[in-house]
Amino acid sequence: MKPVADKLPNCPQTYENRVFESHLPKVIKAIHRNVSRIGDRQPMLGTDDLKWEYCQPWNWVSGFWAGQLWLAHKVSADQVFKNAARLQNAYMKNTLALRMQHNHDLGFVFSLSCVADYKLTGNLKAREMALTAADSLLGRFRRSGKYFVAWNEDMAVTPGNVTGRVIIDSLQNMALLFWASEETGNCVYKECAIAHADTMSKTVVREDFTVYHTFNFDPFTQQPVGGENFQGYDDESCWARGMAWAIHGYAQIYEYSKEPRHLATAKELAKVVACQLIDDPVPVWDYRLPKHETPYRDSSAGSCTAAGMYLIAQHCSDPAEAREFRQWGDYLLAGLIERCDLSENNEAWGLLDEGASFVHRGRCRNMLPYGDYYYVEALMRACGYQRFFW
Ligand code: GLY
Repeated sequence: MKPVADKLPNCPQTYENRVFESHLPKVIKAIHRNVSRIGDRQPMLGTDDLKWEYCQPWNWVSGFWAGQLWLAHKVSADQVFKNAARLQNAYMKNTLALRMQHNHDLGFVFSLSCVADYKLTGNLKAREMALTAADSLLGRFRRSGKYFVAWNEDMAVTPGNVTGRVIIDSLQNMALLFWASEETGNCVYKECAIAHADTMSKTVVREDFTVYHTFNFDPFTQQPVGGENFQGYDDESCWARGMAWAIHGYAQIYEYSKEPRHLATAKELAKVVACQLIDDPVPVWDYRLPKHETPYRDSSAGSCTAAGMYLIAQHCSDPAEAREFRQWGDYLLAGLIERCDLSENNEAWGLLDEGASFVHRGRCRNMLPYGDYYYVEALMRACGYQRFFW
């Protein structure tokens, strides 16, 4: 891992805004091309021929196609996207019924489907579904440890310790709770989300502002036990998508909490990542990968980090600092456009290649629906959009 500088390094390259303004319509057109191909299914993982494997009932990635459709509708006002996104609501309704399978990822799934529908169209049924999901998520809060339990027994990676486990991805799921507080006037969702974010910053976030993927608490005493890297290279490595979840997550949490410590954490995490990407804007899947390992790229870490850089910039009060974070967003996004973009490949059913879902399980060099979602979000942020579904 490259050494981390005291301040955000100067961005190696700057870009004109028109690079992004001219690319966004191409990406919207590619989403349009894929509407009839994908139909009412939920892309899960790209195949070698640039098509998709699809989600079974309940999957943490099931909302990312709906999210892209709602973003495309926001940009274009084209009803094709709205109708296609509404086709996803039957899957979401079934997801709500599968109570025993619910986990912390309800936030990803429902922010990008039902909250998006309600925010853009005022659909009250979608609002009700999203509030039901928020209530289920709230039920995972452990008051004595001040955290949301991530997984269920079927995800046990260390037998016997699931009920005390948090994971870094959960920071993205807090927006559903903040939204529920705003929508209902009940502050309990927001209070628990802030408590969770603060617990995470003392445990999953290490002192050097790298992160673990997961962290265990003793489920009886609630004392911190230690961190692990389920999807990273090894327990003390630095999983690139975990860093992306944390950068975007803390900036997102700041947007609601307005607590300066959340924005400060996002900036410190972003600085660590910027130092790793100074020579190459497309992240290797783990920033502490030993030299003898194959440096698979993870374009999803790139797109989520880019969106996070713009989100930080949006909340910097100092215009010079905002410009620096924005330049980093541009640099990462331009790297993806140059190296991973599939929008002009008619055979591709997704937007970005070179995603690394789970390298230990051989899942790398794939299209990923979340990589695609954050790619569209980042492009829209580059073009000046500030209000999303989170
Ligand atoms: N654990 C979800 C992810 O792959 O990022």
